Amino acid sequence: MHPPATPPTLASGHPDVLVIGGGIIGLATAWRAAARGMTVTVADPSPGGGAARVAAGMLAAVTELHYGEQTLLGLNLASAHRYPRFVAELEEAAGAHTGYRRCGTLAVALDADDRAHLRELHALQVRSGLDSQWLTGRECRRLEPMLAPGVRGGLRVDGDHQIDPRRLASALLTACERAGVAFLPNRAERLTVHGGRATGAVLDDGTAVAAGQTVLAAGSHSGRLAGVPDEVLPPVRPVKGQVLRLRLPDVPAGSPAFLSRTVRAVVRGNPLYLVPRESGELVVGATSEELGWDTTVTAGGVYELLRDAHELVPGITELPLVESCAGLRPTSPDNAPLLGPTELPGLQLATGHFRNGVLLTPVTGEVMAEALATGSLPEEARPFTPLRFTRTTAGPERAPLLEEQPV
Ligand code: GLY
Repeated sequence: MHPPATPPTLASGHPDVLVIGGGIIGLATAWRAAARGMTVTVADPSPGGGAARVAAGMLAAVTELHYGEQTLLGLNLASAHRYPRFVAELEEAAGAHTGYRRCGTLAVALDADDRAHLRELHALQVRSGLDSQWLTGRECRRLEPMLAPGVRGGLRVDGDHQIDPRRLASALLTACERAGVAFLPNRAERLTVHGGRATGAVLDDGTAVAAGQTVLAAGSHSGRLAGVPDEVLPPVRPVKGQVLRLRLPDVPAGSPAFLSRTVRAVVRGNPLYLVPRESGELVVGATSEELGWDTTVTAGGVYELLRDAHELVPGITELPLVESCAGLRPTSPDNAPLLGPTELPGLQLATGHFRNGVLLTPVTGEVMAEALATGSLPEEARPFTPLRFTRTTAGPERAPLLEEQPV
């Protein structure tokens, strides 16, 4: 016989909102909800961690455009547009820098196949009304002299910027604390449901937190919280990304930087990016692996990143390699996030941001605060309702976001 289960200890207080998960999405939601006068508690053993600790922080609405994702493009652009004001407000609230850098991006092709692929992307960008300029290989190297001589052409996208996700997370944490958000240093183990309504969660130390509304913002883990009814459990899965951090050489004032903007390419079918920060860090990413919960940094992953990065920018082999790490992108079946109310009253979702978590942080915080305050999502976020995946006997209530496919 099992010993009788210890009944949960009731946490003091009854916040308006309990946020499960203190990554950048949970923190932005908490910060914005607190700014609207709600009392907010965040449950997370290491707030400010999660996928953002690994992410490169590209704000790449235009260069990461994919066929079939035009609706997501709208949300990505809405968030990119909010970034300058969001950063200004956050830096003021936290008294800290976020490493936001308006440097633009250059996406280049190394061979004829890549060039054809980039031409198609350019056509899609132009059809979508985006600002993207085709450059010859020579023009690319004029912009970024460290590029390999074999570069065949590229796209100059001056509107795709970057931020340092670790600094962003740390600033959000401080801003939350200053706004009165409470933190519980524990993992949520189970959602509590009473009378057909989510009422909070039991944490892994046995504490029960009762809350008016609960937001599930636990990244890849959002799909496996006990107690969430099957039909509203978000269909998110982890997609592993391995990333390297190198140190850029100091350059005397007035001399050209090693790289002055984000440089991307698709090398042998693998997306690759190099993100130079003002802090002197160069982020090289990323693998994309469907390996469940595995976060091992592998020799093969590091080898492939360095091999491809060397093909793109041969000089990187001279740089100190200071870190390798792996994280999990929370991925939904249509690659778009799940935002706002679920079929279960009292439970909202902010998860499934896949490759765009950092980019979508400002808009997510704002639309979630609106949904928590009013019970419904603002117009721009409605396509991202979790109801598009709700399983009923008649099938999903709404179709996932599948759109134009390449011809
Ligand atoms: N957005 C870049 C990545 O997910 O690798």
